[in-house]
Amino acid sequence: MKKEVINEPSLKKAGLRNKSETTFDYVSKAYSPDVYKFYKGKTFFIRTYGCQANVRDEETMKGMLLNMGALEGTDIESDIVIINTCAVRENAEDKVYGELGILKNIYQTKKKVITCVCGCMVEQPEILDKILETFPYISVVFGTHEIKDFIDLIYESGTENTQIVAVNSKPGEVVEGLAVSRNSKYKAYVNIMYGCDKFCTYCIVPYTRGKERSRKYEDIILECQDLIDNGYQEIMLLGQNVNAYGNDLKEGYDFADLLEGVAKLGIPRLRFTTSHPWNFNDRMIDIIASYPNIMPFIHLPVQSGSDQILQRMGRRYTKAEYLELVAKMREKIPNLALSTDIIVGFPNESDDDFNETLDLVDKVKYDAAFTFIFSPRKGTPAAKMEDKITKEEKSARFQELVKHLEVSISASAQRMVGNTYKVLVDGISKHNPEYLSGYTESNKLVHFKGGLRNIGKIIDVKITESHTYSLIGEIVNE
Ligand code: SAH
Ligand code: SF4
Ligand code: F3S
Repeated sequence: MKKEVINEPSLKKAGLRNKSETTFDYVSKAYSPDVYKFYKGKTFFIRTYGCQANVRDEETMKGMLLNMGALEGTDIESDIVIINTCAVRENAEDKVYGELGILKNIYQTKKKVITCVCGCMVEQPEILDKILETFPYISVVFGTHEIKDFIDLIYESGTENTQIVAVNSKPGEVVEGLAVSRNSKYKAYVNIMYGCDKFCTYCIVPYTRGKERSRKYEDIILECQDLIDNGYQEIMLLGQNVNAYGNDLKEGYDFADLLEGVAKLGIPRLRFTTSHPWNFNDRMIDIIASYPNIMPFIHLPVQSGSDQILQRMGRRYTKAEYLELVAKMREKIPNLALSTDIIVGFPNESDDDFNETLDLVDKVKYDAAFTFIFSPRKGTPAAKMEDKITKEEKSARFQELVKHLEVSISASAQRMVGNTYKVLVDGISKHNPEYLSGYTESNKLVHFKGGLRNIGKIIDVKITESHTYSLIGEIVNE
């Protein structure tokens, strides 16, 4: 196979931030008949790891492939296989290496498969080298900024039997007008911004996703209106840091304005993620409180309860400031549910630091939480910090943290028993095919029996039983 390198990743370039304004690229792409012929009837399969940003990228790639006449395949034995990767922690990367191993076997028996690797992992030079060395049969590698071009890249690779590497590390622009084929008919992800400028010292995302850049208010509103017109029940506004929305636009819009604008369109359920505790202003809280269709659920990653660790993480708030913000939110937003992300075992986290985290968790009483053991990411400042804490100590702390979190998570589930809640029905429960499942406004997962006609509707469910991470209920007036 020939090789062509269009661009190679560079962490240095990826971390540059220019002061220039966000640039917008309104794409309207035409392809030659040969390109359509190439795709027509080919099956494709996309495996996505990582966060909602990657899921939304998958939906874009799916939309673009379907527009070319390709067909969605059911498994990894399809004609075109795309592995959409995540680099946020080592275990996310390990899953991808496992998947590439499976692909290698397929490649040895069915040579015509076109394999592509995209997403956040390939944005890191050393990881890309490792991928290409271990799995040399890969047809196309493309980065997070290249999605708009991947149809051409796969075509070129497939017709010229060339391995293509196209990963252009750059701050990035806002690309509008790409196709989309959504995974759900009822719930939709809407990007409001891309990238991140916070550079928390442990995090690779600002390097893999480029600078913080916002979509225009009008473009977001158009997408949301279109979703409502098509019967969607829930919109989740996406950004690594949604309360920074609009800062780069100089158009006078901020996240509070956007939330209000979308809420006013009348979508039954509006959610957003992720909000950074820093810069979450009072107006945002007031808007959430005053629109019943903005769900009373905030994912507010704290990462640690120790001021010293927070400072070394570059998080820009103290434990006291975080607690104050939580108190203000709880005071203004009735029945607010809170979830969080916490990292255990940040370099040289002491017992005292860890106890501060436990104390914070006990005080906030979260309704849900994601916990992680610190995973050094090459190229980030934290990866170079001295770390004397052993693996065993980190796992012991992890277990203890989960125990503390589960106290409030179980209690919040327990409190719901006997009450009736609005649930948006997602479909057949993944745990038991005799049940349906869906989420309450406060984002609790509920399993209940009922007819398939309920799928995609918001219905009343009475909670009969609670578990730590899910609830059992029955439909009211079925
Ligand atoms: N932008 C979002 C989160 C992006 S990553 C935010 O700021 O909240 C999701 C979560 O992964 C983070 O909140 C953090 O808890 C975790 N994470 C990120 N980098 C990590 C690392 N190097 N090791 C362990 N956990 C990490
Ligand atoms: Fe990573 Fe911090 Fe940006 Fe979140 S805010 S994506 S944790 S750098
Ligand atoms: Fe992973 Fe990239 Fe998202 S690193 S968490 S897929 S932004």
